[in-house]
Amino acid sequence: MQTAGLFITFEGIDGAGKSTHIAALAEAFRAQGREVTLTREPGGTPLAEKLRELVLNDPMDPLCEALLMFAARRDHLQQVIEPALARREVVLCDRFTDATFAYQGAGRGFDLAVLGQLERWVQAMPAQDGRLRQPDLTVWFDLPPAVAADRLAGARLPDRFESQPQAFFERVAAGYGDRLRQDPARFVRVPSDQPREAVWRAVRLSFEQRGWLQVEGVR
Ligand code: TMP
Repeated sequence: MQTAGLFITFEGIDGAGKSTHIAALAEAFRAQGREVTLTREPGGTPLAEKLRELVLNDPMDPLCEALLMFAARRDHLQQVIEPALARREVVLCDRFTDATFAYQGAGRGFDLAVLGQLERWVQAMPAQDGRLRQPDLTVWFDLPPAVAADRLAGARLPDRFESQPQAFFERVAAGYGDRLRQDPARFVRVPSDQPREAVWRAVRLSFEQRGWLQVEGVR
């Protein structure tokens, strides 16, 4: 089994059902004796959690939104993600930069070239000789926006993103598709309009195939 640090991110439109699978993966890695850091964006540090509150609830323009997402990300990378990877932990991060391209870029229509510039500034890390920190793998829970809307209906009070119309989530989903096409080797796309157990099997299999989790039942 691999013991280098692993940086795994999870993406999908609101309602795609990431959380239970992220928790199950954390348990699977821990069962194999790996240290796991479970974290999220925007958030993951005291400063970034404050920025999360603002960006999810206060009205602002798309540039402000993008800058706050990247400000939160910078703090999170420096305080949590990079130190955990240096300790060779498995970092499971609920959303990362693909969400900015999908939500602020494709969803809000913000300039993708500017987002690319911010990505280069924020993710250049000394531990990588200035190369950009990118996930080792991104799991994209791909759910049709109409199904997600049904799942979200009647849930808790929606935030600034959850309250967007279905057309917004159609653009976000297309934005994730564009990111996958730009870097297919980094992504695994999990069709998520199927029972939770089937989604979990697909997720687990993609980790087993990479040698990151032992095949279930095999010792
Ligand atoms: P969550 O509910 O999955 O924790 O995500 C919070 C919301 O923030 C979700 O609606 C997606 C949005 N978001 C962005 O718009 N851009 C980003 O860069 C990130 C990380 C999240």
